[in-house]
Amino acid sequence: MVDAYELFAELPKAELHLHIEGSFEPELMFEIARRNQVSIPYASVEELRKAYDFGNLQDFLDIYYQGMSVLLRERDFYDLTWAYLTRVNEDNVRHVEIFFDPQGHTERGVSFETAIIGIHRALEDGKAKLGISYKLIMSYLRHLSEESALETLEQAKPFLDWIDGVGLDSSEMGHPPSKFKTVFAESKKLGLKLVAHAGEEGPPAYVYEALDDIQVDRIDHGNRALEDDGLVKRIVEGGYTLTVCPLSNLKLCGVTDMKDHPLPKMLELGLRATVNSDDPAYFGGYVNQNFKAVHDAQPLSAADAVTLAKNSFSGSFLSAQEKASWLGLIDEQAAEMGATA
Ligand code: HPA
Ligand code: ZN
Repeated sequence: MVDAYELFAELPKAELHLHIEGSFEPELMFEIARRNQVSIPYASVEELRKAYDFGNLQDFLDIYYQGMSVLLRERDFYDLTWAYLTRVNEDNVRHVEIFFDPQGHTERGVSFETAIIGIHRALEDGKAKLGISYKLIMSYLRHLSEESALETLEQAKPFLDWIDGVGLDSSEMGHPPSKFKTVFAESKKLGLKLVAHAGEEGPPAYVYEALDDIQVDRIDHGNRALEDDGLVKRIVEGGYTLTVCPLSNLKLCGVTDMKDHPLPKMLELGLRATVNSDDPAYFGGYVNQNFKAVHDAQPLSAADAVTLAKNSFSGSFLSAQEKASWLGLIDEQAAEMGATA
């Protein structure tokens, strides 16, 4: 019988929850800091990695914003994105839907254009040279005001051909989805898909708000939805996808032991869960490693591996035809490896 991890690793898959600034590996961070002549308050790559010890989301975010501050030029954003794509190519990721945080850059004087042009160029190269298709999601920082998010949407207008959706990230507690009702409605009018982090640290009420007040197409994390049976039922019946990030949950103390991670439970409940890496440079692993971390603690079946690979495409923003083609390919490849969903 094929091992579920080997199967998952070999199957084509999509990554639907990835902050490009969170894929910033310390080695590249030091290299870019050196060429931009900006200083990092750590003496070495090792010392920086040691600082990646977080008690909660905010601890992480403080270091995450500090890390991205060395990104100044278009080339920096290109290199960051290209490094991510070449790395996930090794995990057989064939499609990515990545977030970027424009306000994390514009707030410190780097233009929206600089960030998006660099990211877009690398995504196009990834498609041409690695065969990885993509969608780009612009995330609003929820610790900032809704006016700031609306300004960001204005800045995005010349680039709407390159942007597929909008998201909501950063400090969840105290910044519920309802705070961003207007900017999400405006984004929707422009044809953008809507997603939001909800239920990562925040209560089930925030997940309800993501569904009711901003009408998301997909929920990022959603772990705490499991505390409310009615909410679980609604997510299952609504066919919403959850972009689950196991190593992130462990590193940010949403779970204290991988043995307690809710992914197997989510699958059992019929939720369309997917496995993602969130901020792999900070949380210790890319997508296959995230699967492995859960599997090592709570063995998943070969059928689970197939389901998770399929969910990653079903939950994507690809067209129905593109999805059908990937699902067919996964079935074929799984059958060749002796597994079915
Ligand atoms: N949660 C919220 N905001 C974020 C995250 C996360 O895991 N990573 C980057 N921004
Ligand atoms: Zn995230």
